[in-house]
Amino acid sequence: MTGLCDSFQRPINYLRISVTDRCNLRCVYCMPAGGIHWMSHQDILTYEEIYTVVRAAAELGITKIRLTGGEPLVRLGLPKLVEMLRRIDPIDDISLTTNGTLLSRYAAELKQAGLKRVNISLDTLKQDRFKVITRSSYELSDVLAGIDAARSAGLNPVKINMVVMAGINEDEVLDFANKTINEEWNVRFIEFMPTAGVSNANLHFVSVGDIKGQLEPLGELEPCLPRVGNGPARYFRFHNGRGSVGFISPVSEHFCFHCNRLRLTADGRLRPCLLSDEEIDLRQPLRRGISLAELKGLIETAATKKPLRHQLAEGHVPIDRPMTQVGG
Ligand code: 5AD
Ligand code: SF4
Repeated sequence: MTGLCDSFQRPINYLRISVTDRCNLRCVYCMPAGGIHWMSHQDILTYEEIYTVVRAAAELGITKIRLTGGEPLVRLGLPKLVEMLRRIDPIDDISLTTNGTLLSRYAAELKQAGLKRVNISLDTLKQDRFKVITRSSYELSDVLAGIDAARSAGLNPVKINMVVMAGINEDEVLDFANKTINEEWNVRFIEFMPTAGVSNANLHFVSVGDIKGQLEPLGELEPCLPRVGNGPARYFRFHNGRGSVGFISPVSEHFCFHCNRLRLTADGRLRPCLLSDEEIDLRQPLRRGISLAELKGLIETAATKKPLRHQLAEGHVPIDRPMTQVGG
């Protein structure tokens, strides 16, 4: 096996797969207010097609997979996909990013199928605010039940993703941090990224520096060593804290230098970078019966097209797809 690298010698070993663009929530930071036009069923890669892509990617050196959406659990039979992917030998880590609303139903089955761990998006601990942020009829209690179910099923460590937004949930940073002291919560504070179709982006932005400032009353943050995870977060804990806090700062600091990933959209485009619109179509070649060797060639091409860094600070915001189609 050769290791997959991009043009800047960054090793690429991680593939994020969006299994659907559909979602049962409409979070303000992710989906345009008017919703989006869903992809049709024929547009979406079948589980067999996803399996073929992962098999080729694994031969190139991909060992870690994350399933995302939209909301991945609205796609029927997701445990079946997990089961298929775990059989691909070099793949040693399959994880899921979910909004948690349907997780209590599927956690045990997913674990049994071979899922290792979950990240759950949760931006507020207040029921009324949950409705405002997610613009949905789901309840905060659905997500909390999902978190409990994930823990009981052993999908550890359960990580909670909070996108911090000024004027929306910034006042809850301390509440989330306290959860990491008193309970085994692993919370990641994420800077709001401007993306396609979501307006007022700059209005809501709060930097990781500001978030850390708000945490000062809780005492010193001790770095968790050695560096954990294969993503852009840096992890810390409060003295005597049972859980951890992480910070993801796509905007205020460049997290691109350690970037190790490619993304596959639900409609079969390989996306070299979350924050650039460039894509390589795999669906048409797959449906024309491309060979595994040719497929590997396309994946290598996508890796070489990874930019060194995103250009948000220079004002280049991806415009072709809302975040719900890219999976964060
Ligand atoms: N800014 C920051 N993070 C985002 N996510 C989605 N949209 C954005 C955005 N505009 C991330 C969140 C969410 C995951 C699905 O994607 O962390 O939990
Ligand atoms: Fe919210 Fe995730 Fe759905 Fe976007 S994809 S609306 S972040 S739950």
